[in-house]
Amino acid sequence: MCARKTRILFGKPVADAILTSVKGEVSALKGRPPSVAFLRVGDDGASVSYVKQKAKCASEVGIRSETRIFDETATEERLLSEIVRLNKDPNVDGILVQLPLPKHIHTLNVLRAVDPKKDVDGFSDVNCGRLWQGECSLIPCTPAGIVELLKYYRITTEGKQVVIVNRSSIVGKPLAALLLRHSEFGNATVTICHSYTQNLPEITKQADILVLACGEPHAFGRDYVKEGAVVIDVGISRVPADNERGYAIQGDADAEALRGYIDALTPVPGGIGPLTVAMLMKNTLQAYYLCQQP
Ligand code: GUN
Repeated sequence: MCARKTRILFGKPVADAILTSVKGEVSALKGRPPSVAFLRVGDDGASVSYVKQKAKCASEVGIRSETRIFDETATEERLLSEIVRLNKDPNVDGILVQLPLPKHIHTLNVLRAVDPKKDVDGFSDVNCGRLWQGECSLIPCTPAGIVELLKYYRITTEGKQVVIVNRSSIVGKPLAALLLRHSEFGNATVTICHSYTQNLPEITKQADILVLACGEPHAFGRDYVKEGAVVIDVGISRVPADNERGYAIQGDADAEALRGYIDALTPVPGGIGPLTVAMLMKNTLQAYYLCQQP
């Protein structure tokens, strides 16, 4: 039997195209450049690294950024008062609170405090609501990046069965809203699965496009995936490894097992990760325009 050729859908060319366009637009602006404030609470290793990546990328495209670091014990009031201050600051266009926050802080209280015009994560109540109403808004970066990747590789969604293994407000729910839109890269039939889903493999095996984001390294092999499917792997797990860092990054898909069986797969690392950061830059530019409006 002739094995299928599995395309590897790298995120970098898609991210580069987005970043080149943002950089070009930023350099043509008159006056001060767009600016974004990153708020990080505590020293979680992954959060430290993500915020650094975001700040580095911002500087590469000409966006000004500042990172505010709060102690792990900082109160919710302290964080809220900083957000109120940044909301009022005419020199700040975007505000991003890195998640997760420590348990004593009510995450939704913090996210809904961010001015919707400056909400570059698209996590505020207003922007979530607009997204579900199919209105233009600042859209969460990871799902927006997934749609950009599908567009770039001309993987259509219209009439397709899409199964998403994640129900978070960062990935699963906003991605479902995007893929349900009345648009060329929407019009999908969308199913969301989660930790209480029964007969998971039966459902995931129906997917033309399977989106994995459950943090189960290499758990999804042929038993879970339809032959010829497209698999978008958003899982990021740190697993112990015999290298300098002491860990390796692994996705949820068992890439070895799926190669030659499916149509296309995003790699981990190097798939969706770069797109999340690129879409954040795009959102910051959009927030800049929204803040310029009277
Ligand atoms: N933590 C994991 N992903 C994200 C994200 O997209 N935005 C923020 N703010 N925190 C995160």
